[in-house]
Amino acid sequence: MPNSIPLSSLFISVLIPVILATLLYQLDSFDPVTYPTHVLSTEPPMVFPKRNSHMLHGSEKIGVDRLLSPEDVAYDPNLGVIYTGCVDGWLRKVKVNESAADMTVEDWVFTGGRPLGLAVGRHGEVIVADANKGLLLNVTSEGEIKVLTEEAEGLKFKLADAVDVAEDGIIYFSDASYKYKFDEFMFDFLEGRPYGRLFSYDPSSKQTKTLLSDLYFANGVVVSPDQNSVIFCETPLRKCKTYYIRGERKGSVDIFVENLPGFPDNIRYDGEGHYWIAFASEKTYAWDLAQRYPIIRKIMGIIVKYVGTPHVEKNGGVLSVDLQGNPVEHYYDGDLTMVSSGMKIGDHLYCGSVKTPYMLRLNLKQYPAVQSS
Ligand SMILES: *[C@@H]1O[C@H](CO)[C@@H](O)[C@H](O)[C@H]1NC(C)=O
Ligand SMILES: *[C@@H]1O[C@H](CO)[C@@H](O)[C@H](O)[C@H]1NC(C)=O
Repeated sequence: MPNSIPLSSLFISVLIPVILATLLYQLDSFDPVTYPTHVLSTEPPMVFPKRNSHMLHGSEKIGVDRLLSPEDVAYDPNLGVIYTGCVDGWLRKVKVNESAADMTVEDWVFTGGRPLGLAVGRHGEVIVADANKGLLLNVTSEGEIKVLTEEAEGLKFKLADAVDVAEDGIIYFSDASYKYKFDEFMFDFLEGRPYGRLFSYDPSSKQTKTLLSDLYFANGVVVSPDQNSVIFCETPLRKCKTYYIRGERKGSVDIFVENLPGFPDNIRYDGEGHYWIAFASEKTYAWDLAQRYPIIRKIMGIIVKYVGTPHVEKNGGVLSVDLQGNPVEHYYDGDLTMVSSGMKIGDHLYCGSVKTPYMLRLNLKQYPAVQSS
């Protein structure tokens, strides 16, 4: 008799779950593929000459419980206002002030979707990539919403993600995935097929052009200060690429940075020679393995679908690189994850996040990144 108890409990605790998992695995249609090795970042992560590994120390919270998961940060220097898009479908305006406590938050415009990427246009309007609506919007300075575009070559946007406006008025933007919605983005990473696209939209002709397709989760977009190229990030590859929009190389693509220490989200230019790239998490060993083996990603996909998304992110933050893509500074923290944007305004680095009910800012003069030995 004493033997039967461990045996039956073994059966219940091990065999039944294994049988169920095997059945589930065979029935589930989720079908990840191998990432082609040439697309991945395979070298050791890029090392930054200056680091602040405790960026939460000294960080101030802006708009607590008003700025709900503020994904992107766009700044209008003429108004001294930061725009951000929240998870409840509101675009909010934040008045910049030297004192964090005096930064006021205003509900500005309700898109009813999930506003992600934002850029201030040439007439004070805000161009919005609304993920859940799958639309590129023009929100006029009076707060009126106009749809600019919703598709390219007959294929609708599903996860309109990031946007920037060139000096000539052309808008550049990304659709991270035409297959998965924003709240399913994890499946895009796990599946390993390139459903992302990069576009331009010309307001004078109202034409949307597909510049690049077959991108891996096309994320942050920024126009270079010389207006010769557009830089965009492919999150799961830990790379950002240059797409030339002018000159001899017009239409071609180069690597801008690769082997980043984390998974890049939005990228912003600070007007002072540096791009700031936000990252949700540093690269982890588990993700390295998963990226190599589709079977691991299939199992992870089943877990995400039936159990929930495990939180394995760590050391999120913001990196800066110069105009050539050379590493400059690295701000991160062990307790920080899901940082989605970083923008330097004056002495402060402002950070959006898809997780927190506030925006963070850090005074870079008081809490600088320092030379790492
Ligand atoms: C900052 O806020 C204080 C208090 O509301 C105000 O007096 C001051 O003018 C503000 N500064 C700026 C630059 O807006
Ligand atoms: C957005 O709308 C405003 C107001 O009609 C207009 O002045 C501006 O040119 C529009 N921007 C774009 C990019 O279409």
